[in-house]
Amino acid sequence: MSCPVLPPAVLRGFLLACVCAAHCTLDCTPRKRVPYDRNHLKVFREEGVSNYSTILMREDVGVLMLGAREAVYALDINNISVAKAKIIWQVTQTKQNECTFKGKHPDIECRNYIRTLHQINESVMYVCGTNAFSPACDYITYVGGRLTLEGRQEEGKGKCPFDPFQRSSSIVVDGDLYSATVLNFLGSEPAVLRNSVKFLRTEFTSFWLDEPNFVYMDLIPESENNPEGDDDKIYIFFSENAIEYDFYRRLVVSRIARVCKSDRGGQRTLQRKWTSFLKASLDCPVSGDILPYVLQDVFLVRDSDWRKSLFYVAFTSQLGSNEVFSAVCAYSVIDINKLFSHGKYKTPVTVEASHVKWVMYNGDVPVPRPGSCINNAARASGLRNSLDLPDKTLEFLRDHPLMDDSVKPLTGQPQLVRKGVLFSRLVVDRTTALDGETHLVMFIGTDNGFVQKAVNYNGEMHIIEELQLFRNPEPIGVLRVSARTGQVYAGSVSGVVQMPMADCRRYSSCLDCVLARDPYCAWDLGTHICSSFPTSAKDTDFVQSLKEGDASRCPDPGPIKAKKRILALGNNIRLPCVLDSSLARVQWLLAMKLLTPTGGKYSVQADGLLIYNASAADAGLYTCESVEHAAGRQYNRTLVAYQLRLSTGVDDNVGTDGGDSWIGMDTESAPSDGPDVVHVSSPAWRHIPQSGLVALGVSVAMLSVLVVVLLLWNLYKGYLPLHRFSQQNHRKQPGPAVHSRPVLYALRRHATFDGVGDAPARQTLHAPSTYGNGFNTDGFKHIIDESEI
Ligand SMILES: *[C@@H]1O[C@H](CO)[C@@H](O)[C@H](O)[C@H]1NC(C)=O
Ligand SMILES: *[C@@H]1O[C@H](CO)[C@@H](O)[C@H](O)[C@H]1NC(C)=O
Ligand SMILES: *[C@@H]1O[C@H](CO)[C@@H](O)[C@H](O)[C@H]1NC(C)=O
Repeated sequence: MSCPVLPPAVLRGFLLACVCAAHCTLDCTPRKRVPYDRNHLKVFREEGVSNYSTILMREDVGVLMLGAREAVYALDINNISVAKAKIIWQVTQTKQNECTFKGKHPDIECRNYIRTLHQINESVMYVCGTNAFSPACDYITYVGGRLTLEGRQEEGKGKCPFDPFQRSSSIVVDGDLYSATVLNFLGSEPAVLRNSVKFLRTEFTSFWLDEPNFVYMDLIPESENNPEGDDDKIYIFFSENAIEYDFYRRLVVSRIARVCKSDRGGQRTLQRKWTSFLKASLDCPVSGDILPYVLQDVFLVRDSDWRKSLFYVAFTSQLGSNEVFSAVCAYSVIDINKLFSHGKYKTPVTVEASHVKWVMYNGDVPVPRPGSCINNAARASGLRNSLDLPDKTLEFLRDHPLMDDSVKPLTGQPQLVRKGVLFSRLVVDRTTALDGETHLVMFIGTDNGFVQKAVNYNGEMHIIEELQLFRNPEPIGVLRVSARTGQVYAGSVSGVVQMPMADCRRYSSCLDCVLARDPYCAWDLGTHICSSFPTSAKDTDFVQSLKEGDASRCPDPGPIKAKKRILALGNNIRLPCVLDSSLARVQWLLAMKLLTPTGGKYSVQADGLLIYNASAADAGLYTCESVEHAAGRQYNRTLVAYQLRLSTGVDDNVGTDGGDSWIGMDTESAPSDGPDVVHVSSPAWRHIPQSGLVALGVSVAMLSVLVVVLLLWNLYKGYLPLHRFSQQNHRKQPGPAVHSRPVLYALRRHATFDGVGDAPARQTLHAPSTYGNGFNTDGFKHIIDESEI
């Protein structure tokens, strides 16, 4: 892997070289890539209808409500290819004409795109559409398997965007619709608002919201079990123009904002506006990349204790970066809560006549604390609700909505990083593995129609598989998960697909099943298939090893039969062999000795081995092995074996076509009792024979001595600064000792040790971001303190 491209100035120096090296050893290659045709997908699409952009899960009534362009469907949640009911909601001719008259495209923009679907109660839903740049809402009933559009149209302004290409978000809390969208045709008035008799909105000031792209909002019931008597909060996720950076071009930053549910606005200041709107940056530090990442989607992993809930956020690198990266970071609700309740604020400072910089505010903060909800302390001092808040508090909030510090991800590291792919949506499922431990599995949609299924085991990133959900590369625009059905649902412009969270049958052998490290799957020792285990299963009946990837309990797959091939002198011969894991590498053996493709005799290719200009010396037993590392262990597995024998020219007419043609004719149909049937044993779990271990031990010992001597010499010479050395040691991730001593599980007598060296590479994590706040590079500065100006 090459390094992410940094501003030239950043590339200097030892420190960043380290960061870069750590980053480049990250292995986030999906272990399997499953193409469209091999996925057992259920698909829904209807001729003439497109833009399937909105999904409301109704597990209670067994349907998936789907909003598309001018249509809403109720699909069977177990099989979405079955539409149970449908309603059509088209724009009127008048609306379409008005829209076209204002300069919009009649067939692209001047249509009704369903963008909002909410459940009101058991039978009634609320629906909004863009309605030809004139948003409107209505009620839908689903009774007796029939969908009905009530025809009680309401104003949709502030609930749904005008522009179908614009993102927005909304949520219903206690019957009130909270939304984050734009309020006008031009899109110049973005706002977070509550649409009810208790109407409130944000200020139309650029430092409250600066060309935001609203992505997500949700409620955290923070009043539950709260000794401080705090209020429930609505969190809003969006990206917007940065005000806190000095950069030669526009930068976009990721934000989390929040408002209090019981907010009623101010009396004089902030009348009918939020008195509790505070926002902060979301950090997702991908080592080596200095520009902030931009959030694309959010998933709330709810816990019955709100303090333990987590937000999972998908990010992509800043537009215009030389290389594309995507990442997922997780944030704890309690960290976010602490930042807003106790963090410092940013304040604008005018420098050089008209230029404004935002820096940390160190002055006195009014009481009650600006932006806080009405809690026990406030009530004790006689404040019943936000209308009683003093002007001083409100004026401060109006001028300082941004927190100084940013929200840091859990463990300070991303959960996942992937290069060259753009993440668009994500969902997370919580599943209990065989050992009773709970794992969070990420399903991440990309902008080219794939889903990445990934986990993070104690800091080790692992993409189990990458599945192609759409034949044509198109962005996944909506992603939902249902624990009840065990399915993931994805929508795009062309259709909706449904895929199971796991398809364990895809793993054909015990080794493949266990090394997949898929928490939904385990190898059944009784039936010899990879299956989703019953919850009552005894550990002893199944093999699963998620964090360790330890397949040593896999049974002996037994000997495999070598296929017979004819060797024709002077010909080129192809022996097919395809790996079933992208994390494995292939190795070929001739007569159980490792083949080294040197001298132009052999060529090892993705689909097999080529032997050029065969001679009599090339006859023999060829075995193709997959070599895979998991958590510091090495697994060798024989995939196929060929017995290549010299053509006698009598009973086989192969090879007479001569020239450069590839010969590789399978003679399996020949009588199989002949002497050519060779059984190759392929035990995958046997420890290396003692002699091998001793040899390895000696080499390791000698190497260690060499390293220590070198280190001492360098320290003595002062090439390595001592403090930095100890600092880095300090930061080392705790976790399984996978880095240090790869345990070798080999299957042959002559285990190849050349693979050992690169085993630990995959485990390496990002080095912690070393360029924290205040890191100064040419033209890029994050100002920390007023005193710096
Ligand atoms: C559901 O909500 C609608 C609209 O608010 C209301 O008219 C209806 O009575 C409610 N139905 C039930 C079963 O609560
Ligand atoms: C709707 O789908 C069409 C393709 O059928 C696509 O060209 C267009 O960009 C989509 N519109 C939106 C708002 O996504
Ligand atoms: C093939 O190998 C033979 C010897 O085994 C050699 O004489 C001949 O030149 C080789 N042919 C080519 C095309 O390399």
